[in-house]
Amino acid sequence: MAELPKFSSRAFLAPMAGVSDVALRLLCKEMGAGLVVTELTSIHAIIAKERQLRLEHKHIGEFIEYSERERPLSVQLFGSDLEALEKSAKIVEPFFDVIDYNMGCPAPHITQQMAGGALLQNIDLTRKIFRTLVSSVKKPVTLKMRAGVNDATLFKEVARVAEREGIQMITLHARTVHQGYSGQSDWSLIRELKEMVKIPVVGNGDVTSPELAKKMMDETGCDYVMIGRAAMGNPFLFKQVNDYLQNGAYQKYSARKQIEMFLKYAEYALNYNIKFPNIRQQAMRFTKGLVDSTKIRPKLMLAKTIDDLKSVMIEAS
Ligand SMILES: Cc1cc2nc3c(=O)[nH]c(=O)nc-3n(C[C@H](O)[C@H](O)[C@H](O)COP(=O)(O)O)c2cc1C
Repeated sequence: MAELPKFSSRAFLAPMAGVSDVALRLLCKEMGAGLVVTELTSIHAIIAKERQLRLEHKHIGEFIEYSERERPLSVQLFGSDLEALEKSAKIVEPFFDVIDYNMGCPAPHITQQMAGGALLQNIDLTRKIFRTLVSSVKKPVTLKMRAGVNDATLFKEVARVAEREGIQMITLHARTVHQGYSGQSDWSLIRELKEMVKIPVVGNGDVTSPELAKKMMDETGCDYVMIGRAAMGNPFLFKQVNDYLQNGAYQKYSARKQIEMFLKYAEYALNYNIKFPNIRQQAMRFTKGLVDSTKIRPKLMLAKTIDDLKSVMIEAS
C-alpha cells in the first residue's frame, strides 16, 4: 500500500460538484492548496465511460478532466456496488495520486442508492467497501464523511472501521446529512475524531478565513483543513491561510486582482470541456465583494461565450 503523498500546505480544496473543475483547482493549487480533489464521480459512470473512451483510444482523463500541474491530485468516488467499486478504482488508479471515497453527500438521488451520506448507517456494507477499495488498488485510499445521518453519532464507528481497514486519511465535514448546509459545523466532533484515530484528520466545515483555519487547527488538533464554499471565486484564500499560519499576517487582494484571477480561470477553462453555464457561474462567484457586482452580474447572465464573460469583467476592472 503506497503512502499518502507529501502535501505542500495544510489547506486543502474541498470537492464541489459543478464548482471544483480542473480550471478552478489549478488556480487553487497555484495559490497554495496542499491537495485538490475532483468532484464526486459515480463508479458506474466511470465504468461506462471508460468502455466508450477505450474504443476511441482515449483514457478516463477525458471524462474526469485533470492537469498534471494539480498533483498531488485526489479523485473522489461514490457508489456502493462492490464489483463496480473494484473495477472503477482500478480504472482511475493509474491517473490519480489518492482515491477518496464519498460518505457525506446528502443529495437524495445519491442517498437513495445507498451511497454518499446514507452509507454511514450501514456499517457492514461500509466495511466491505473499505476492504474492497484498499485491496483493489495500491494508491492510498481516503474517506470524506459527515458526522451522522440524523444525529452526530455514527462517524466514530465508521472511523474506527476505516482505520482498521487501511483507510489512510479521514476528512470530517462536521454536520449531519439531515442538516444539509444549515446550522454550524460542530468542530468539537473533529477534535473527538482526532483523539480517536492515528491516521491524519482533515477538518471541514465553515472555514471562511485564515483566522478560522488556524482556529480550527488549534481547537481540534486536525492535521489539515479543507475549504469549500469560501474558496469559490477566491483561490487567494489558500495563500492567505498559508501566510497566516506561517507569519501571522496575510495580504488582502484588490478587486482588480480578483478580476485578473477570473481572466486566468477563463484562459484555463478554454483548454477543457467545462460546460459554459458552469463557467458563467464561476464568473459570478469571482464578482463576490466587488463594489459593482450587482451591475456586473446581469451582464454576465446575458453572456453567450467565454469572450463575452471576459469583456464584461474587463469592462468592470
Ligand atoms: C456546490 C457544492 C458541491 C459539493 N460537492 C461535493 C462533492 O462532490 N463531494 C463531497 O465530498 N462534498 C461536496 N460538497 C461538500 C464540500 O466538499 C464541503 O464538505 C462542504 O461545503 C463544507 O465545507 P465548507 O463549509 O468549507 O464549504 C459540495 C459542497 C457544495 C457547496
